Amino acid sequence: PAPGWSIAADVVVVGSGVAGLTAALRCEAAGMRTVVVTKARLDDGSTRWAQGGIAAALGEGDSPEQHLDDTLVAGAGLCDVEAVRILVTEGPDAVRRLIETGAHFDESTEGELALTREGGHHRRRIAHAGGDATGAEISRALVEAVRARGLRTIENALVLDLLTDADGRTAGVTLHVMGEGQHDGVGAVHAPAVVLATGGMGQVFSATTNPSVSTGDGVALALRAGAEVSDLEFVQFHPTVLFLGPEAEGQQPLVSEAVRGEGAHLVDADGVRFMQGQHELAELAPRDIVAKGIMRRMQEQDAEHMFLDARHFGADMWEHRFPTILAACRAHGIDPVHEPIPIAPAAHYASGGVRTDFHGRTTVPGLYACGEVACTGVHGANRLASNSLLEGLVYAERIAHDIAATHRHNGLHARVPAPVPHPEQPAHPLLAPEDRFTIQRIMTEGAGVLRSADSLTKAAEQLHQLHADARDALHENGKTAEPGVDTWETTNLLCVARVLVAAAQLRDETRGCHWREDRPDRDDTAWRRHIVVRLNPDRT
Ligand code: SIN
Repeated sequence: PAPGWSIAADVVVVGSGVAGLTAALRCEAAGMRTVVVTKARLDDGSTRWAQGGIAAALGEGDSPEQHLDDTLVAGAGLCDVEAVRILVTEGPDAVRRLIETGAHFDESTEGELALTREGGHHRRRIAHAGGDATGAEISRALVEAVRARGLRTIENALVLDLLTDADGRTAGVTLHVMGEGQHDGVGAVHAPAVVLATGGMGQVFSATTNPSVSTGDGVALALRAGAEVSDLEFVQFHPTVLFLGPEAEGQQPLVSEAVRGEGAHLVDADGVRFMQGQHELAELAPRDIVAKGIMRRMQEQDAEHMFLDARHFGADMWEHRFPTILAACRAHGIDPVHEPIPIAPAAHYASGGVRTDFHGRTTVPGLYACGEVACTGVHGANRLASNSLLEGLVYAERIAHDIAATHRHNGLHARVPAPVPHPEQPAHPLLAPEDRFTIQRIMTEGAGVLRSADSLTKAAEQLHQLHADARDALHENGKTAEPGVDTWETTNLLCVARVLVAAAQLRDETRGCHWREDRPDRDDTAWRRHIVVRLNPDRT
């Protein structure tokens, strides 16, 4: 449908996690008219669920160079070294600015930042808040800052598509807004700069640590707009997610790596530790190695899950250091003070996304991306734990800097984007909301932790069929699902799932978090490269 309302801005930021709100605050501080649009409430994205913390070389004896080394090892040969260098050298100051913005991190008794360890880190360099509620504190501080600065925000606003002008430059976004007064229904924010900070796509799988809003909307929008997307096959499965049964669906409680960082052990049903001997860091090996170690032991023992044993922490440490995890376990009838926690890997983080340069610019002029939606090159084939909040901060600041510089060059507020005609019909067939579960089942069976050419081929065929059915219904009978948040989300999930599976089929090797059972070895001769996808906007 044609937009019923429109507003104009210099920048529209889509998404309200650490990346989006940091970009928005910095753009506003640089004097730009900034609008934040977000699909649910301002604090409803993935950021507030982050537990372990934010990695930065802030501790004595640590250095950006050591952080760089650990990041490159985890990334399994596919990190962009310059992008990582930017991350680790600008990271410590970006964290200090976050603290100035109002975030409170845990401190040692000496008043220094308390730093913990997580998988793949050779140093204690993870700053945390509220014990294991780091994301919630960051989100609180940023939302409060956005409100205090009076930034214009539109909540319950699902982004639909990018608007471009006659030269193919970004001219804003269309939105589907529900229940927000004057800006209700389908509308548009016209702006020459759009920052995608829409988060991840964990909902493409049945069991994930991601909230229900993580449906790949930004990647789908970018694909429809003809932007390049890279590394989608590298889905990170978090090794230790509370196991709630084989049929558990949707968001599952995370058991932070920081629990292992503080000394918890992975054990099988017989209480035997199995990560020792698999990697010099044992339970603190990079996340892909731990997830594989767990899956391998599950296969060997025909078990549905393994256990994380941290009984030796004692009640006091559990209550003070990991209150969120303790509460989640107890809510499901498990008491980690007295029993090992049942865990299994679940989908956690998209290491790939919309391809950007070092300033967060995508391949569409005026369109930027940061945070989980982006592929800046810092994660390679497997993100290092707790680098994601940092990436959101560092690259959001770079984007704001770039937009401000561009606007200064063009003359602030000088360019009013030309209105763009909007098609009456959705350009793409929309899927019914219940198809979400079909997509999740297909992806979990065919493109989960363990993949093979056969499982991926089957998944690709099933996903293609879903698309073909929806397309035929539209083209032959003019029928499509009623446009709405659920239908758009499901349509976006299908779009990103198809590209993810196609990339996973192509990558004929095992690397980082892409584990092909039929190609168990890493192939540096043929595959030390990226899979970059760009769809023809007319044929998506
Ligand atoms: C965790 O706390 O284990 C999650 C950290 C991360 O995903 O970076």
